[in-house]
Amino acid sequence: MKVLITGATSGIGKQLALDYLKDGHEVFCCGRNNSSLQQLVEKFPESAFLHCFDVAELSECVGSLANISQLDQVILNAGTCEYINAKEFDAELFARVMKTNLIGVANCLQALIPKIKNEGSLALMGSSSSYLPLPRAEAYGASKAAIEYLARTLQISLSHINVSYIAPGFVETSLTEQNDFPMPMRVDVKFASKSIRTALNENKQEIHFPRKFTLILKAIALLPKRIQQILITKALAY
Ligand SMILES: NC(=O)c1ccc[n+]([C@@H]2O[C@H](COP(=O)([O-])OP(=O)(O)OC[C@H]3O[C@@H](n4cnc5c(N)ncnc54)[C@H](OP(=O)(O)O)[C@@H]3O)[C@@H](O)[C@H]2O)c1
Repeated sequence: MKVLITGATSGIGKQLALDYLKDGHEVFCCGRNNSSLQQLVEKFPESAFLHCFDVAELSECVGSLANISQLDQVILNAGTCEYINAKEFDAELFARVMKTNLIGVANCLQALIPKIKNEGSLALMGSSSSYLPLPRAEAYGASKAAIEYLARTLQISLSHINVSYIAPGFVETSLTEQNDFPMPMRVDVKFASKSIRTALNENKQEIHFPRKFTLILKAIALLPKRIQQILITKALAY
């Protein structure tokens, strides 16, 4: 199988790339950190291919991906997280997060949708933060909620491929290292990679894990909004 993964230089994306490579697949590994991509190519010289570009720049994206032909699976995983202080709202921070997380996905979609084989698969990395409004996640959560909507519309428009939305809970990576609040039921990247690969194999449209955590969020999301806000405020009082 030919798999393309953005954000393959660290965290969840790197683990996915390693696991697909170990399973004998060809992997197109994307990111900005050239030396991290080189390490993957050195380990798997026959089957790992390096694509170094910034997803937020359309011309870089299209240029770097132009020579790739038919793909079986595309995982648009690259993303960033910065938190907002709502009382001193920083519009530039908001734009930065949106540009990488949302526009970055749109740029990759332009470059890659025509290359995905019939019956192939496309997965967009969201977050379980799209299920509920979380304080300080005004930028990150909004970007992921937009990705969830985007995935759901693509599920209707691209009937020739399987489109999945991925919503992890907390995963131990450099992205969550910065968090100064409790991260209940945090899992490691191996668990995240296994959960994603298994669900993609089964053509699941929504992939969320660890389920104990994500099902609690989903249950809270069914409650009246005022009660959701009280519960979230209480749970995150630290
Ligand atoms: N960790 C969690 O708890 C968690 C939970 C829910 C969702 N997620 C999502 O999972 C995805 C991966 O996150 P992670 O936790 O594995 O974090 P990570 O270790 O920081 O990895 C982020 C990846 O995205 C790439 N990236 C970031 N900005 C980019 C840009 N402008 N252009 C190209 N690549 C870019 C990075 O590569 P370079 O730096 O080389 O460019 C890196 O490979 C993100 O979309 C994140 O929102 C994570």
